[in-house]
Amino acid sequence: MSPLLDIQNVIYGYPVPTRPHENSPSIPVLRDLSLQIQEGEYIVLLGHNGSGKSTLARLCNALLLPDRGHVLVDGHDTRDAAQVRTIRDCVGMVFQNPDNQLIATVVEDDVAWSLAVRGWPRAMIKERVEAAMAAVGISHLRDLPPSKLSGGQRQRVALAGILALRPRCIITDEATSMLDPLSRQEITALLHQLHQEQKLTLIQITHLLEEAALAQRVIVMEQGQVILDGPPATIFRDLDLLRDLKLEIPEPLLLAERLRRAGVPLSSRAITLSAIAEELAP
Ligand SMILES: Nc1ncnc2c1ncn2[C@@H]1O[C@H](COP(=O)(O)OP(=O)(O)OP(=O)(O)O)[C@@H](O)[C@H]1O
Ligand SMILES: [Mg+2]
Repeated sequence: MSPLLDIQNVIYGYPVPTRPHENSPSIPVLRDLSLQIQEGEYIVLLGHNGSGKSTLARLCNALLLPDRGHVLVDGHDTRDAAQVRTIRDCVGMVFQNPDNQLIATVVEDDVAWSLAVRGWPRAMIKERVEAAMAAVGISHLRDLPPSKLSGGQRQRVALAGILALRPRCIITDEATSMLDPLSRQEITALLHQLHQEQKLTLIQITHLLEEAALAQRVIVMEQGQVILDGPPATIFRDLDLLRDLKLEIPEPLLLAERLRRAGVPLSSRAITLSAIAEELAP
């Protein structure tokens, strides 16, 4: 099966605007990065500040184009200008600050916005908007202005606007980082649910290790390269390596580490509080 996202030996550096006439190539922030993502995967992409996560995300829906190498989305090269619309319809992005994605004066119109600008038939817009609002649990907020909503609710509106386009893949870039801990957990749980129910390919970018426990595959970036790639239980096995990568170790992993040191035999799957509890008192 060919991958939905196929990133082949990508090198990318931001142009240096202050020195446009000098022949000084920018320092690459992605360095010969290759990565294949299959349809339906649920991936958490980790890495500390500046490791290149957002840059990689922007390359995946043709907001940026690689200096070298290729990014193929469902077989379409992002360099092919004729395919940009198809690529952006396939890969939706949700960003850190929902306010940058909210445009209309009431929730329902906001969710409909991208479909309306594409000139779709009214009945089809209505059907998709209803489904998207229901999927993220905001149908009851439809007539409210987004400014009256909480941060978590606004992020749900932004997510519904993307879902209405029926993408095959959603990349969330630190989409929970401006939220309080409860909303953060709720949005993470919602993304998990959308992946399961709608078979969406999901790439959740975060610097919070705790959000990785639900994923099927965890990818860790460092200095523009992928340095770890595997299931969460495998990635979480070497906490000292994660510490070296300046990732904050979540409480359940610290607890499991202490219990193991005290002689309690926990398996590598004990990465959440409920999994630890299950092994201690089944
Ligand atoms: N628009 C830009 N112009 C120039 N340099 C940039 C730009 N955006 C990012 N960079 C640089 O590229 C590198 C990678 O940045 P990127 O935003 O992809 O990292 P990140 O892993 O998403 O970091 P964070 O966790 O802070 O979001 C950093 O050194 C950053 O300073
Ligand atoms: Mg970023």
